[in-house]
Amino acid sequence: MCGIVAYIGNKDPKPILMEGLRRLEYRGYDSAGILVCNNSKSQLSKIAGKVNALSKILENKTDITPHLGIGHTRWATHGIPNEINAHPHSSNSGKLFIVHNGIIENYDTLKMELISRGYSFYSDTDSEVLVNLIQEIQIKENIKLPDAVQLALNQVVGAYGIVVCDIFNPEELVVARLGSPLAIGLGENSLYVGSDATPFLDHTRKVVYLEDNEMAVLSKNGEINIKNIISDESIHPYVEELQWSLNSIQKGGFEHFMLKEINEQPKAISDTLRGRLLVGQGKIQINSINEYKDKFLNAKRVIFVACGTSWHASLVGEYLFEYFIRIPVEVEYASEFRYRDPIIQKDDIVICISQSGETADTLAALKIAKEKGAFIYGICNVVGSSISRETHSGIYTHAGPEIGVASTKAFSTQITVLILIALKLAELKKTIDPNLLLDYQFELSQIPEKIERLTKSAPLIETIAKNYSDSQNCIYLGRGFNFPVALEGALKLKEISYIHAEGYPAAEMKHGPIALIDKNMPVVVIATKKTNYQKVVSNIQEIKSREANIIAIVSEGDETVAKLANHVIEIPNVSECFTPILATIPLQLLSYYIAIIRGCNVDQPRNLAKSVTVE
Ligand code: F6R
Repeated sequence: MCGIVAYIGNKDPKPILMEGLRRLEYRGYDSAGILVCNNSKSQLSKIAGKVNALSKILENKTDITPHLGIGHTRWATHGIPNEINAHPHSSNSGKLFIVHNGIIENYDTLKMELISRGYSFYSDTDSEVLVNLIQEIQIKENIKLPDAVQLALNQVVGAYGIVVCDIFNPEELVVARLGSPLAIGLGENSLYVGSDATPFLDHTRKVVYLEDNEMAVLSKNGEINIKNIISDESIHPYVEELQWSLNSIQKGGFEHFMLKEINEQPKAISDTLRGRLLVGQGKIQINSINEYKDKFLNAKRVIFVACGTSWHASLVGEYLFEYFIRIPVEVEYASEFRYRDPIIQKDDIVICISQSGETADTLAALKIAKEKGAFIYGICNVVGSSISRETHSGIYTHAGPEIGVASTKAFSTQITVLILIALKLAELKKTIDPNLLLDYQFELSQIPEKIERLTKSAPLIETIAKNYSDSQNCIYLGRGFNFPVALEGALKLKEISYIHAEGYPAAEMKHGPIALIDKNMPVVVIATKKTNYQKVVSNIQEIKSREANIIAIVSEGDETVAKLANHVIEIPNVSECFTPILATIPLQLLSYYIAIIRGCNVDQPRNLAKSVTVE
């Protein structure tokens, strides 16, 4: 949560920081601010609200030519989202400034100590406490800023990604990381900082990712000095070359990132399959599975650990793994798993799924499982993310940057990867007939084209959405492989349109939720022609007799449900195990259009942030 940007070099940092903050707004957007300075002057601008509002204020502030700047877009943890609590925060002397992402858990104790030494605080934030702790240490020990930052961080409990500067010595920036990601971009006599690399993608492709417990001093001449905060050991920067295109982080003609990302799914899935699904050669090639073949073949149990949409993908993983490789699977909410002293047995494999690779609970659960001796495999989208680096092995989804807060292409590419892994392991374990495996491989290669066809239903879905934009509640039902789809459809609707929605296994309806059904309760049913189809049709009859409106996702050519439901959306015919990818797409579009009609900000829904790096 929260986006951090910073710049030091020979250019004007203002446009660089502002563009960077716009690109990081997916991380939080309740308030924003920047500080810029040169050798004689500094200028602080903060607002409650979004980055665009900050730009308007800056238009009137032209009386300074700075060479250093730090900026922040906030997702509130400590203190309400207002101008006072917005970052950057200054120390009591007005000399030091900080932008901070994360939570300082012992901030209260530190604050009390600082107050007893005469410090005062204008905000409710933990970040203001940290910058004052740095000031206190610097004055008391009479040391340079980087040394004071290092000592302060050794007193801190919690998580942080920080940038600190001294406006009376604007020759360096001090950055540090524990739990919250920080990327440093290497330009021509310039250095850029971002919570990820997107802010500086159009300035440089060369990036250094700070590891946990590392800090760096960035100098105006482009020099970087990295060291370990605890051991004080110097670290040689490892420079990576980014491959992302600038176009992939822009809207590319779509009104919203979410709509762009829904429509990008054929390409995203093709990218996920590239080099792995080799239909011509009749094989699936996954290097990480080949490398750790014995671990996977000897595993007695698979535990999926994830949050939100990635948790829903994990549920699909459970169905896929049990179906294809007959291995017991458990699916855990990372936030619960981490505090339960989980039982990890020899030969357990823990698979962590995360789009961002930065979700705090998933990362913590991963570390616990690792300490307990499990083999950890990661499925992440963001290359070089914390989760991808902590795992023993893993696979990237290659969905490209997902900017819309509501996850869309991340989900379908996670499922694609899970299908690939399940089929590969089924081949290795010989739990699948070789001819059937070839059929599945061919069918999988056709999925992008089928989604392309499916996205053409957008106008129909928009029309259907018009009937439900005033709804207060909505129920989603699905069975088997489509039960996780019902959960995901409901999550998409609630998070971007603020309509209360719940997903259930269709057969559970009779055990409670049916009491909610009346003419004011729209029900979305995934009723593709597969196992238990007739039973789902019976559920539809039960709903219809209670006068609810039914929106059904059906297989192409279905006539039975068409006679019962108020609206049907057809999806191309596929094997049952592939339906979650296709059936989710109309539900993403339905939520999108309902939210648009209700005037909601679909890319930046209230209270949410793309990357949940706090507990
Ligand atoms: C929902 C959504 C969230 C994320 C969750 C996990 O649309 O985006 O529920 O899925 O916060 O995030 P990652 O996958 O980055 O770990």
